[in-house]
Amino acid sequence: YEIYLRGMTGEVPRLPTDMSRLEELTERRLGPGPVGYVAGSAGNGSTARANRAALDRRRIVPRVLRDVHERDLSAEVLGRTLSAPLALAPVGVLSIMHPEAETAAALAAAAQGVPFVLSSASSTPMEQVAEAMGDAERWFQLYWAKDREVTRSFLERARACGFAVLVVTLDTPLLAWRPRDLDQAYLPFLRGVGTANYFTDPAFLSGLARPVHEDLDAAVLRFVDLFADPGKTWPDLAFLREHWDGPIVLKGVLHPDDARAAADAGMDGVVVSNHGGRQVAGAIAAADALPGVAAAVGDRLSVLFDSGVRTGDDVFKALALGARAVLLGRPYVYGLGLDGRAGVEHVIRCVLAEFDLTLALSGHAAPATVSAADLVEDAR
Ligand code: FNR
Repeated sequence: YEIYLRGMTGEVPRLPTDMSRLEELTERRLGPGPVGYVAGSAGNGSTARANRAALDRRRIVPRVLRDVHERDLSAEVLGRTLSAPLALAPVGVLSIMHPEAETAAALAAAAQGVPFVLSSASSTPMEQVAEAMGDAERWFQLYWAKDREVTRSFLERARACGFAVLVVTLDTPLLAWRPRDLDQAYLPFLRGVGTANYFTDPAFLSGLARPVHEDLDAAVLRFVDLFADPGKTWPDLAFLREHWDGPIVLKGVLHPDDARAAADAGMDGVVVSNHGGRQVAGAIAAADALPGVAAAVGDRLSVLFDSGVRTGDDVFKALALGARAVLLGRPYVYGLGLDGRAGVEHVIRCVLAEFDLTLALSGHAAPATVSAADLVEDAR
């Protein structure tokens, strides 16, 4: 109601409350290069479009005359209680969008009480983000290096910095064919790359002949070599389990058998995700994969979801399809590009407010009671 009340005095929000307008506004402000990095998808973009279509095809069937006066948005995920079933997804090199990059996004998440998932490929060292966040809930996303010393070093740093959950991204052992990235020159956007998370890692640096600022090309090549590792298999997870004593979540799981393998390997959760359509062109829509994974492991693992979430009703639909919580990706990145920390806070607040209203207007007082019975599917 805050926005409506302010509207009575003629005040309108600085940024739109319609999340679908953010991309276009960001492009107008920052130009096509930075937005190409964020909006770009694999191949011709069909997976990203399918992500949206799969959510749009599901329709909520609201119930009436249920007491929804008192609502509690909190959600149980990975043995912890989140204030809402939402976290910010890991997104690399946020300096492309705003000079305050990951720190601004992390502070926005902290202020709104949602976990921030810091990418391995962040443009800010994890120590700096952690210090800015104080005690606020943070998770660390691992791009799992070929070199065990580098992996061990990242895990040690993350633990020392108070990251509570390890999110291991498995859908990027190779970077996919992304035309919008391939068709443009990148270096102008890589502001401050020399101080990025991995370029400040002692184990990473020990493998370089010369300091990063003297030979950036060699540093980038080492990064690409280390973080592209298509040779890993399920038994390799034992190494991570051995070196991380908190919850581990595997991100990028789409097949129920892979979800079962994750549970068998002693993992704590999965993120059903196709990386926002940025990896396998033509892949199954994440929302279409979600019910199968939830049915296979929902009683053994925390099932999280991302890829295509734009609004509060998308969050509701993901819960109804079997997720415990969702990760918000591109919308907050556009919020960052438009107005730094305040822009990210605006996006989180809009999504949460809309989720709260959708929940209530559909007849629910808490996320836990949302189920498959709340949705129907349009005929294709
Ligand atoms: C990502 N994503 C991602 N995932 C990850 O595990 N580590 C990373 O560093 C990144 N980097 C990244 C950069 C950009 C620009 C985007 C858009 C995405 C994937 C991200 O965590 C999430 O899976 C998707 O953003 C979800 O799709 P939507 O909802 O943003 O379309």
